Amino acid sequence: MLRTHTCGELRITHVGQTVTLTGWVQRQRDKGSILWIDLRDRYGITQLFFEEGSTPAALMQAAKAVGREYVIQAKGVVAERLSKNDKLPTGDIEIKVTELVVLNTAKTPPFTIEDNTDGGDELRMKYRYLDLRRNPVRESLQLRHKMAQQTRTYLDSQNFIEVETPVLIKSTPEGARDFVVPSRINNGEFYALPQSPQTFKQLLMVSGFDRYYQIVKCFRDEDLRADRQPEFTQIDCEMSFITQEDILSTFEGLIRHLFKTVKNIDMPSVPRMTYDEAMKLYGSDKPDTRFEMKFVEIKELTGGKNFPVFDSAEMVVGICAKGCAEYTRKQLDELTEYVKRPQVGAKGLVYVQCKADGSFKSSVDKFYSADDLKTWAAKFNAQPGDLLLILSGETNTVRKQLNELRLLMGEKLGLRDKNKFSALWVIDFPLLEWDDETKRYHAMHHPFTSPKPDDIKLLDTRPGDVRANAYDMVINGTEVGGGSIRIHDRETQSMMFNHLGFTPEEAKKQFGFLLDAFEFGAPPHGGIAFGFDRLCSIFGGADSIRDFIAFPKNNSGRDVMIDSPSTISAEQLKELGIKVS
Ligand code: AMO
Repeated sequence: MLRTHTCGELRITHVGQTVTLTGWVQRQRDKGSILWIDLRDRYGITQLFFEEGSTPAALMQAAKAVGREYVIQAKGVVAERLSKNDKLPTGDIEIKVTELVVLNTAKTPPFTIEDNTDGGDELRMKYRYLDLRRNPVRESLQLRHKMAQQTRTYLDSQNFIEVETPVLIKSTPEGARDFVVPSRINNGEFYALPQSPQTFKQLLMVSGFDRYYQIVKCFRDEDLRADRQPEFTQIDCEMSFITQEDILSTFEGLIRHLFKTVKNIDMPSVPRMTYDEAMKLYGSDKPDTRFEMKFVEIKELTGGKNFPVFDSAEMVVGICAKGCAEYTRKQLDELTEYVKRPQVGAKGLVYVQCKADGSFKSSVDKFYSADDLKTWAAKFNAQPGDLLLILSGETNTVRKQLNELRLLMGEKLGLRDKNKFSALWVIDFPLLEWDDETKRYHAMHHPFTSPKPDDIKLLDTRPGDVRANAYDMVINGTEVGGGSIRIHDRETQSMMFNHLGFTPEEAKKQFGFLLDAFEFGAPPHGGIAFGFDRLCSIFGGADSIRDFIAFPKNNSGRDVMIDSPSTISAEQLKELGIKVS
């Protein structure tokens, strides 16, 4: 080893010992006759000390010559510092250096490698290997490592075994587009990269593996957001001979284990809410339950007063923002502008200020009396000092709009604290979802999800009302995982493909292997997959999953460091049988 200790290791108890450290020069402070170097490695920072008189002149010279991010080896004696730094674990000591070797020089980095850097996003992505030297980014990856370790510990303790499934496969429909890979030896044919190992894990159940998991890369060619990457990682799991209840309790166990071991948080048992309830109370299938502010429907209290907007609306629904009655005209206008943005799409916003003196002031005073507003306030359980914010329109649309407003108010009121965690199971998702573009129903989760037995009879008449044995886990308003109890017989699976618009031939071509497998003794089974990057970012209190991935893509799906995707040579194209016009 080129070192005896790491830069995070030495304490007052080491004083007097001769040690050798290696690392990167974080900072050099030259006061003429005295010089300090902050030496950094993965484990911390240790101060090196040089002083004219006690340090030989040549060594002093060498120390003055090192620059930022030089890689050096320093040998010396651990000494107690005169002025201690209680912000550093090694802040009680410094090294009186006797030998210095420059292991490598470094160009001046394009941004400062400190916790708060001056580097913009793109620059840091281009030099990601330098960004990874910064504490916050390194800590995010260390957290990820710990999460993966603890996931394995828990699942192993529950008898799950990790099995790897292939990466070069055939398309699995999960709702996104596939990334495809041309085959040289099968000219004109393509592999697809898995959007998830869904069909393989089901086949492993047919094989009798019983409890499978895999921390696995998945690939989806979809529009990117802060919580979406084209390649991301799942904790993918499947179990046989179980009920939905078993899955929910096993994986609630995983999440609670992670909170306990990684963050030392005792997470209470995870509440459940049906999809219908979530939509009614929060206008979202992934509600942020760190705060209440539940929806209150008041259509029946608003009629007969000649207010056409409410009279013509299918739904009148609002939220109560605690303590916001004194919002100024400007603040209320800002809220109105917010809901009128095209991304939200509301036509307007009705507000009622429940004044501290018990009076009411609203944007609809022309139509509604103080008594009317009092009845509304009672339904909202509003107190003097609260503000009611009300939207109206078509039920599903207005719920989505109010969800946006609720999240904004939660943010404004500081209710979305990153250090607070609220998990929720959303259950009983619809089986099918209408797609306006293709004018047909799609599987809301995926085509292998089983319908609730009681609802199968509705498949022909009211397909949109059929509920599925499908569930999501939501933490702080982010969908961190989702799964379902699967269909495990050929007949039901074929019926499902049929409802999804597959001809028997198409179903056989795409999924014949699975339908065949179901005829060889498929056990009842079900599973779930967690978005591992998302889980890590929530544990790390971050909005974006990027810093929990060592080498992420930017918002256009590019890796700006290695400059990918890129063109390939005419020769490669020819070999693959691909013509580019
Ligand atoms: P689903 O498509 O719901 O289910 O994916 C499971 C979880 O993966 C995460 N996720 C993503 N994370 C980052 N970037 C993305 N582009 C991305 N897409 C999804 C989400 C999501 O909840 N095979 C099924 C699981 C099953 O039924 O067992 C599946 O993949 O957190």
